[in-house]
Amino acid sequence: MASRLGVLTAAVVVFGGAFAGVVAPALALDPAAGDPAAGEKVFRKCQACHAIGPDAKSKAGPALTGVIGRPAGKAEGFSYSAAMSKEAEAGLIWTPDKIGEFLTNPKGFVPGTKMTFAGLRKDQERADLIAYLATFP
Ligand code: HEC
Repeated sequence: MASRLGVLTAAVVVFGGAFAGVVAPALALDPAAGDPAAGEKVFRKCQACHAIGPDAKSKAGPALTGVIGRPAGKAEGFSYSAAMSKEAEAGLIWTPDKIGEFLTNPKGFVPGTKMTFAGLRKDQERADLIAYLATFP
């Protein structure tokens, strides 16, 4: 148990470090691997439903400010689907890898989600987008 906790703590430290700009090659979707400027253009595909930034409010989709590293289903005042609420209860955290998997195929990753978005199939698009999301902690 103690050693398991130790591994968890180390993972959290590495994860936190990735956002402080420290290189963390263990993360397949390190935000540093993407180009935030290119990601801003990719985010146009999300803007019909999502806002991001200091004053962002939830629209058809939850506000995405600070979403990286945040537990799923936690945007204030947003009514999530039963499917997403179940994932949230099961402890889903939006690490870059999990957001990457979700965005590749939203309905495949969270069956029953009410996010009606086909998915971003290109690795580079997802990496750029995640780098952009990471600029709004
Ligand atoms: C057609 C509207 C729509 C589009 C387009 C869309 N989303 Fe969503 N998104 C939603 C909805 C609705 C939810 C809530 C899903 C649920 O409750 O099942 C959601 C949930 C999410 C979540 C989980 C947030 C949380 O608080 O748990 C993330 C992350 C996300 N979207 C990212 C994106 C990104 C990035 C894009 C663009 C590539 C995108 N979405 C495009 C509607 C959309």
